[in-house]
Amino acid sequence: MAACVEVSEPLPAFQWPSPQFVGGAWPDLGRPLRLGVMASGQGSNFEALVAACRRGPAGAEVVELVVNNPLCEARRRAERLGIPCRLLDHRHFRERQLLDQQVAASFQANEVDLVVMAGWMRIVTPVLIGAYPNRLVNIHPSLLPSFRGLDAVGQALAAGVTISGCTAHLVEELVDAGPILAQAAVPVLANDSHASLAARIQSQEHRILPYGVALAAQRLWGERLGPADQG
Ligand code: GRF
Repeated sequence: MAACVEVSEPLPAFQWPSPQFVGGAWPDLGRPLRLGVMASGQGSNFEALVAACRRGPAGAEVVELVVNNPLCEARRRAERLGIPCRLLDHRHFRERQLLDQQVAASFQANEVDLVVMAGWMRIVTPVLIGAYPNRLVNIHPSLLPSFRGLDAVGQALAAGVTISGCTAHLVEELVDAGPILAQAAVPVLANDSHASLAARIQSQEHRILPYGVALAAQRLWGERLGPADQG
């Protein structure tokens, strides 16, 4: 099930749980869902997710941020928001797998249920994907499957599309691929610069990422409710 957000229609402030997007069912873990976030840059999606969690009833909380860049703004936001932040500098790891091992270990030690890649500018390996199968969500600034990979906004401008947008999806081994959770479309205007289009897309990312996470969580709950637990 994927959610489509119409730009023209203002959404209510996101709340956990979000019956209009997750069909009324919310993971009943008997405690708030524990989210881990990975970021490399500004961290605006990280902050939007924290805000969404804090706005509603305590259905989910961001318990840890992992960053790979010591100077990133996301790290400063975590400090301001009071979220524990771990720096795992990719330059200190000779292989991607070793970095992913540490990322997974950090989240597992913190009993994280679901991991969100909110602007993580590294390719992830099966080590992390395998540690969080169907529990790893990414946000990408295009309407996937169009414009995978680096500079999706530049790719959209170069292609001359008139509509672009963003996608929250589950992570699979191919870059920017995996089951789509939520998408939002935005118009590409004739006088758009890279910066203006990126900003329009990003404001939608901040809205759909929490919805995508809620949908992924609903799937997680379905997994946990095995036949022996039903009835
Ligand atoms: C977002 O545009 C996201 O789609 C991409 O990286 C950007 C991160 O922005 N993967 P921010 O760090 O959340 O502000």
